[in-house]
Amino acid sequence: MGFRSLALGCGGYLPERILTNADLAKSLDTSDEWIVQRTGIRQRHVAADGEFTSDLGTHAARRALAAAGVNPEEVDLIVVATSTPDQTFPATAAKIQANLGVTHGAAFDVQAVCTGFVYALAVADNFIRAGQSKTALVIGAETFSRILDWKDRGTCVLFGDGAGALVLRAVPSNGSAAERGVLSTHLHTDGSHHDLLYVDGGPSSTGTTGHLRMEGKEVFRHAVQRLAEVVDEALTANSLTGAQIDWLVPHQANRRIIEAMGKKLGLSNDKVVLTIDRHANTSAASVPLALAEAASDGRIRPGQLVLLEAMGGGLTWGAALLRW
Ligand code: ACO
Repeated sequence: MGFRSLALGCGGYLPERILTNADLAKSLDTSDEWIVQRTGIRQRHVAADGEFTSDLGTHAARRALAAAGVNPEEVDLIVVATSTPDQTFPATAAKIQANLGVTHGAAFDVQAVCTGFVYALAVADNFIRAGQSKTALVIGAETFSRILDWKDRGTCVLFGDGAGALVLRAVPSNGSAAERGVLSTHLHTDGSHHDLLYVDGGPSSTGTTGHLRMEGKEVFRHAVQRLAEVVDEALTANSLTGAQIDWLVPHQANRRIIEAMGKKLGLSNDKVVLTIDRHANTSAASVPLALAEAASDGRIRPGQLVLLEAMGGGLTWGAALLRW
């Protein structure tokens, strides 16, 4: 008898301040029409001065713990996916742990840009499967507004700030796909494309924070191909077909990519969780924010099959299949 990671509850947090496409068009050569047509984005949330990634992550974590009915004291593992940590070190996970009043267990960050949450989920799931953790908090938290070049219309219109969190609990498992919990995770990286999406600064290179740079068209091309592959991989690993998936919860980078994935799986649009119109691309936070929204409004119900997928800088990509 082994262990499986049961999803107990999730929560999301978005900063108060909203920046609409029309707001951006006041100081940038862009339009609501261009942004909506190419991406599906209508607005994004932006963190306040002095509001850090750890603050966003802490709010999301508290909401997830409340939804799960879990006391922070029970958490023995915190994995935070972020590419926008408060500081180079300590890990943002350590600061969130402190905010939660916890002083035991392990807390660390993983960095796989927009695929970060799927990576963090895989790490936590493997800790649980190995019997090393009983209650894990998996968080995606970002303040991409701090690394955007607000003069570059090709990138600054695409991103937003936010955080999402998921509580996992180790439960005994006989390995059957009929059981609730994380069924499988699938991670990939091809570092030869690291220059398609990157930040042009860092502690070891320039000594500055830097700004996000992206070859949007090329990333788009890779995303469609790689996401289709990894979604197939997840289905095959569990002897499932696309039509058996109850909910697709994709990374929210571009509405056209999301719709292409839904179509590939043969899912109607109402089975695909979309937040990009209101949240934009919140990188590692986008999947758990979407998950939290669809779980809290009652769309995702216990026993249903939920497929997560994401693609990001690295290039990294991955998928996770859960029975909720
Ligand atoms: N407003 C108006 N015009 C714009 C804007 C803007 N905000 N941005 C670019 N343009 C212009 C360009 O200058 C260009 O003009 P030109 O033809 O005169 O040169 C034209 O619009 C077309 O630009 P493209 O970049 O070719 O537009 P495209 O259709 O490729 O859309 C986009 C760009 C939305 C970025 C798309 O490529 C995309 O979504 N890429 C994928 C991004 C992604 O998936 N990222 C995932 C990971 S994110 C992460 O990991 C952090």
